[in-house]
Amino acid sequence: METLPDHDKLLTDRALRCAATELNVDSSELRITPVSGGFSLNRRALVSSGGRTIFVKEVDANLLSDEGERELGWLKKDYAVTRLLQKTYPQYVADWTELADDGYVLMTSSYASSDGWLWQPPTDNSVAERYISTVITAVRELEKIKLPQELIEELQLQPFVARELGLDEGIDQIIADADIRRRLIDNYQKLLPNQLEINKRRCQAIIGLLEKRDELIDISVRAKEFAKQTEDCFNHSDVRSDNLAFNPQTGELKLVDWNWASYVPQGSGATEFLVDMARHGHDVTPWLGELNVEMLASFVGFFLIRSLKPPLKPGDNLRQMQALSAAVAYDLLELM
Ligand SMILES: Nc1ncnc2c1ncn2[C@@H]1O[C@H](COP(=O)(O)OP(=O)(O)O)[C@@H](O)[C@H]1O
Ligand SMILES: [Mg+2]
Repeated sequence: METLPDHDKLLTDRALRCAATELNVDSSELRITPVSGGFSLNRRALVSSGGRTIFVKEVDANLLSDEGERELGWLKKDYAVTRLLQKTYPQYVADWTELADDGYVLMTSSYASSDGWLWQPPTDNSVAERYISTVITAVRELEKIKLPQELIEELQLQPFVARELGLDEGIDQIIADADIRRRLIDNYQKLLPNQLEINKRRCQAIIGLLEKRDELIDISVRAKEFAKQTEDCFNHSDVRSDNLAFNPQTGELKLVDWNWASYVPQGSGATEFLVDMARHGHDVTPWLGELNVEMLASFVGFFLIRSLKPPLKPGDNLRQMQALSAAVAYDLLELM
């Protein structure tokens, strides 16, 4: 019998059939466990049978406006880059990955929190320090990957970050439009009460910035400098705690979601990651030397303007995350 699409289920029957084939059992024997994190509209879950568990991510065209074309491209690139890195830096990517069912279903080894993998920054300070150091070391090592031009094009790793961020019009719209500034200030005032103390202070500081035209212009100028930097460093380009798993017992690190991977200016990976860590309330001052200052400047306007967009899906906190990222980037910029 045909059933209506169920927007609440974790995976569709299509993905479950793929997982069942992989695990060599009938679909009815699968156990499905939800995972935390993730901002895309794709479906995802851990699927287990017997002693084996795999992570399954699925493009459901019914949830997407363009038949999922963009997400299918993301899955394909994520898969291809993971396969490439399995040859050079296997320690930083999933041991196993498979793209099934015309590219609609991506399966990878499981790094489940129930097995000790952290998908969030550790709360314990000494573990957090090891976590941050491990990620910084990894992104610096990955920066060194050199690939032939044909492969860069085939895998769509061409530079885009410096121009997309550095030449983003957000900061200039903010400077030109008092109404945008007023909406941003309103948002921060609403956001502020529920934040960590340090982020409250950062929200207040960025509210102050929104009333200082000269300082905004200065940030706009510095952001545009980012667009001029040489983009010859390989990067994951979305290094955040929800895209990486760290095992505090073994010190292992696995990065997932390689769909934004590209060549970027030096320090970009460390910068995006340290902004994420600072937003979670961690002290990143030991790593200030890793930051790309111009990228930080470009983050301010880029995240400010995006934070005003409507939510991607009802109830998600993407826009709040972006508002806080702008405030954190401004705070770190002031420390430099
Ligand atoms: N291999 C994996 N094993 C276990 N959990 C995973 C795995 N890959 C991703 N996850 C979980 O799923 C979440 C979202 O996955 P991700 O691939 O980043 O999706 P999205 O594209 O929506 O960002 C992660 O934050 C993590 O909690
Ligand atoms: Mg992700």
